[in-house]
Amino acid sequence: MNDFATRLIRWQRRHGRNGLPWQGADAYRIWLSEIMLQQTQVATVLPYYQRFVACFPDVSTLAAASEDEVLALWSGLGYYARARNLHRAAQTVTLRHGGKFPGNFDDIHALPGIGRSTAAAISVFAFRKKHAILDGNVKRVLARYFAIAGATGERKIEARLWREAETLLPSRGLASYTQGLMDLGALVCTRGKPQCRICPLHAGCAAHLSGRAEHIPSPRPRKPLPEKYSTFLLLLDGSDILLEKRPATGIWGGLWCPPQMDEAPGGNTCRAQQYGVKAARAHALPAFTHTFTHFRLHITPLLWRVARQPGQAQEPGRMWLNVEEALHAAIPAPVRKLLRQLKEGATGGPVK
Ligand code: ADE
Repeated sequence: MNDFATRLIRWQRRHGRNGLPWQGADAYRIWLSEIMLQQTQVATVLPYYQRFVACFPDVSTLAAASEDEVLALWSGLGYYARARNLHRAAQTVTLRHGGKFPGNFDDIHALPGIGRSTAAAISVFAFRKKHAILDGNVKRVLARYFAIAGATGERKIEARLWREAETLLPSRGLASYTQGLMDLGALVCTRGKPQCRICPLHAGCAAHLSGRAEHIPSPRPRKPLPEKYSTFLLLLDGSDILLEKRPATGIWGGLWCPPQMDEAPGGNTCRAQQYGVKAARAHALPAFTHTFTHFRLHITPLLWRVARQPGQAQEPGRMWLNVEEALHAAIPAPVRKLLRQLKEGATGGPVK
């Protein structure tokens, strides 16, 4: 076995993350954890993972659930396309693989939401197969080890990193090795201030040996984030609030939100009839900003105390929910924050 793998495996077993609830579990749980762990830290994932498997203990229960139920359990975790793909993939596993999560790399990779690195991680952890991973953290570890200058997102650099990742694979201890790469990237070989002193690989790390660990990889050239504006209309009838289902694609696809006007506030008038209500007082709540990967959203919440007109049918894609119930629905994090404020009465008297 090569020195890189030997040192990494030994380090992972002593200092890495072990005893996590999905480690050594079945393929379904390992798949779920890998999807949740994309762009989200272990500590954040843990309670979501536990609630999710308590509700959906296997692929078939997940496949049989409604998208709304799945999104409600994902609510707050962000990147909701992950949840929609997970749900679709569960349905594919049911239809195409008889409800048994496939063990073949190509079949895993073909499922919605599973890229090459995630398919490899599942193959290693669930089926003990020999495949290389290359997520963002691992790219950084390898770019430093081989002192590969440039941005790891560049096609040529990424291709070289995949080649190195394949070459380094050991023939034994693959789960510890793979987990070790992830753990080292998250805990030691971090983007800012890497802790080379305690790194098990420092003796062979070209970036460290040439004093360039902090400068490799080059940061991705970042454009300033575009700024967008939205007014959230919090239509409150007693303690009931009106929510609308967002279109299936785009941000917060399929989630429930208050009616939105996607413009800067000012000049907007809420036409109450549009929502079948008689409007009373309105007042603006403090504006706040929610940052996505690709833009910043400035949200101005506008609270309208309203009364529903009797005899109005509920339009499809809209629902009135008690604020408490709404907190259990498939809502994004900023909406949860607003609903909590409403519930706690931080907005001019608690909801009745
Ligand atoms: N990120 C992606 N997969 C992970 C895993 N299995 N453990 C920790 N972090 C991860």
